[in-house]
Amino acid sequence: MCGIVGYIGAQEATPILLDGLARLEYRGYDSAGVAVYSDGALKVAKAKGRLQVLSDMLQGGAAIHGQVGIGHTRWATHGAPSDINSHPQVSRSGKIAVVHNGIIENYSALKQFLISQGVPFTSQTDTEVVAQLIEYFYDGDLLQAVGRVLHRIEGAYALGILCADTPDQLIAVRRDSPLILGVGEGENFLASDVTAIIKHTREVIYMEDGEVAVLTREGIQCYNHFLQPVEKEAAHVDWEIDAAEKGGYEHFMFKEIMEQPEALRRAIFPRIKDGQVYLEDFGLSDDYIRDIRKIYIVACGSSYHVGMVGKYNLERILRLPVEVALASEFRYREPIVDGHTLVIMISQSGETLDTMAALREAKRLGGKILSIVNVVGSSIARESDVVLYTWAGPEIAVATTKAYSTQLAVLDLLGLHFAQRLGTMGKEAYDQIVQEMLLLPAKMEQVLENREDIQYYASQYFNHDSVFYIGRNLDYALGLEGSLKLKEISYIHSEAYASGELKHGTISLIEEGTLVVALATYSRLFEKAMSNVVEVKSRGADVLALTTEPHRKEMGKIANGLITIPETHPMLLPSLGVVPLQLFAYYVALMRGCDIDKPRNLAKSVTVE
Ligand code: F6R
Repeated sequence: MCGIVGYIGAQEATPILLDGLARLEYRGYDSAGVAVYSDGALKVAKAKGRLQVLSDMLQGGAAIHGQVGIGHTRWATHGAPSDINSHPQVSRSGKIAVVHNGIIENYSALKQFLISQGVPFTSQTDTEVVAQLIEYFYDGDLLQAVGRVLHRIEGAYALGILCADTPDQLIAVRRDSPLILGVGEGENFLASDVTAIIKHTREVIYMEDGEVAVLTREGIQCYNHFLQPVEKEAAHVDWEIDAAEKGGYEHFMFKEIMEQPEALRRAIFPRIKDGQVYLEDFGLSDDYIRDIRKIYIVACGSSYHVGMVGKYNLERILRLPVEVALASEFRYREPIVDGHTLVIMISQSGETLDTMAALREAKRLGGKILSIVNVVGSSIARESDVVLYTWAGPEIAVATTKAYSTQLAVLDLLGLHFAQRLGTMGKEAYDQIVQEMLLLPAKMEQVLENREDIQYYASQYFNHDSVFYIGRNLDYALGLEGSLKLKEISYIHSEAYASGELKHGTISLIEEGTLVVALATYSRLFEKAMSNVVEVKSRGADVLALTTEPHRKEMGKIANGLITIPETHPMLLPSLGVVPLQLFAYYVALMRGCDIDKPRNLAKSVTVE
């Protein structure tokens, strides 16, 4: 969603801001803008559309000179995408500029108040209210004016603020929307995402909710909500800039698909020692684990699909009830959570607003929160009792791939850890799964090597306009993810169904030539999967099947197309099975000429409800 970047130092600010915004493009946006202090005043440039429009307008940054500025990519919430509604929003005198991620919930009442005081408005945004309100309270002390505004605005916000009277400082504010500060030498940065500034510094301060920071060239001072100074340590970000660049690949999504074996090695290998799962800094005691009566897995989108796989696996090996809940539903449904409930939140970004709200609700009800998160220092990670990082590295493509795979792996490791503590799994089974987890990256490499087959099938099916993914049990959970991947990037309508449900309604949609992707990796239910393939074929469906090597021959007799994956422990099948589905979606979208890394209407990190 929206992106923020800010710079203060000795270099030209505009090119730095444009470059930072380009690195945030993946988050999704519909307009962009910058404000730079130049020749005694703020110069603002904003444009609807791609960042390239703004960049051209600014001659790549050469059009506005100045060493301090703020920039923004906007994803419209209040007011349609337009030049006027783009950020930065400025106060009536043009003296104060604000960039904002999030939503000011009480903006309407505040706007009415300001209008009654004679303040004219030019945009429909909630952000303009912040700029105007700061100016309303401003009497020469910007920090105090910001402090007064913070006590009046409600909602979620990350703010970058620049004032023409004090061009030697930038102000940053964070509440329920990510904002980090980059510490440089003789220069400092603010950004909604490390990716925007990693080129300049790897020393980063993670702001807490309610904190305010004043950035000057020489340093950064943080304050709490009451503007009392607080001391903050910078953390070192250890991934390289290449991780956030395409490195020769045409799309981030493809690069991230190909990175999965390496990401799995990072997620799994350090957590297995001498054949035992070892979870670093794990804050749940054996007594607590034995006391768990119920597990909730709460997440959105693909992370929710990981939870669906997790439900089948965890229930099977722990003999504990596991409920998977959509975060957007969980928060409003009065869930039954108590001190014996473990609530597992899964999130790549660690900033998804619904997941964050569900976390707080679960905590309020007394549940223990364990989160599986990719972005280090993100809000969900920081508010959880226990965090297991996925170590997938930065994921830039909007459609998740390597985060999904590593989330699955971490959830499997967690299951093994619990099963051992609870004594619900025999040593032989435990050893076998651990062994297979260590082989997973290499087996995934085999799947990736066979990508030409998948490319061929994509060329056969890319012009279909409706696809069904069917499967049972783990294959059903896998189908949910395969179907989402396809629809989000190729815009082909697709649905995932539990195969047994077909005859309860959906089968009426199957007609001559309908593409059905039949998932049949789970050996225990292979015969049933075969029956479902026969069932849809006899109604005219064109079946592309996914199964394991040992079943190749049998499935090959009836399916129109066939993709196989190596055999592994059943619990790990979705980890291998998802790769051909990701590749299929990718190649189909490529052949349809879609904007793969930035699908329409979607944002990478969904920080609004
Ligand atoms: C789909 C996708 C989304 C995310 C969802 C949750 O490819 O990426 O469905 O999985 O928005 O995001 P996180 O995991 O960041 O909470």
